[in-house]
Amino acid sequence: MKATHMKIHAWYQANGRHTLPWRTTHDPYAIYLSEVMLQQTQVKTVLERYYFPFLERFPTLQSLGEAPLDDVLKLWEGLGYYTRARNLHKTATQITQLPEDIDALIKLPGIGKNTAHAIAVFAFKKPVPIMEANVKRILCRIHTLTTPTPKELWEIAYRMVDHTNPFDYNQALMDIGSTVCLPKNPHCHTCPFEAICQGKEEPTRYPTKIKKQTPTRHQQLLLYNHQNTLALTQRTGRFLHGLWGFEACETLPSDTLYLGEVTQSYTHFKLTAQIHLCRESTPTQSHYFSIEEIERLALSKVDAKIVKLFLDKI
Ligand code: ADE
Repeated sequence: MKATHMKIHAWYQANGRHTLPWRTTHDPYAIYLSEVMLQQTQVKTVLERYYFPFLERFPTLQSLGEAPLDDVLKLWEGLGYYTRARNLHKTATQITQLPEDIDALIKLPGIGKNTAHAIAVFAFKKPVPIMEANVKRILCRIHTLTTPTPKELWEIAYRMVDHTNPFDYNQALMDIGSTVCLPKNPHCHTCPFEAICQGKEEPTRYPTKIKKQTPTRHQQLLLYNHQNTLALTQRTGRFLHGLWGFEACETLPSDTLYLGEVTQSYTHFKLTAQIHLCRESTPTQSHYFSIEEIERLALSKVDAKIVKLFLDKI
């Protein structure tokens, strides 16, 4: 691996995304935050809209732990996978400093094996590998693996990691995954792994792509409108917990006005909702909010789309 490590190092020097803000900081909390945001969100989105405002409002783990969860959810609004925000907040209520040890990190809410490894290497410079989607694809191609188990992948990753400069090595792998070892049409001729890659003749065979079918859920949503306010409820179930939104209804009252359709894709299903408006002369629901008040609440993407539809139509 020595020669390959040197090639990766040279590749990273020439092509790496060195200026990403979580690569230039030494603050473990900022690195932890970035890793949580990047778990299910693209670099561009995190960079443009979420990372800096979050750090500005909550500059330390302590300040995050002292804040109300509603404020945290508000800054997370639109980023999706809100369990990430709730877990970040929960961790911040438990500790003021992140531990360096991987086993201790994994015990914290929302920190899985990969995030623990990412914090250990990027914040504490431990010689350990990381394992996100891009890295998995690279390892599968190098070793011609179609359907590896997580255990197999971790074993390979541990064998391959550069102990001399694990920070650059892991960051480089993510950059190679997003610019060279692409899912379709990878640029094998510029890849620092080319000499040792066993899958380079037919790279797209590895790993086997599993096409998942996501079902569509159809819902009828009824908006309650009284004067210039709308009724919203704060969700209590597991899904979108803590966020404010509109509830689905089984049977529609007869005198409603159809506003239109909104759709939203989630990991396990696609939602198609028909939106109906119920104009009330007297309020029947518990909480009504003006548009200005709604803007201060944390709403999921679909609920924000519904508010927009209401404003466009009314
Ligand atoms: N995705 C997860 N961690 C990342 C990092 N440190 N840089 C770029 N993308 C990432």
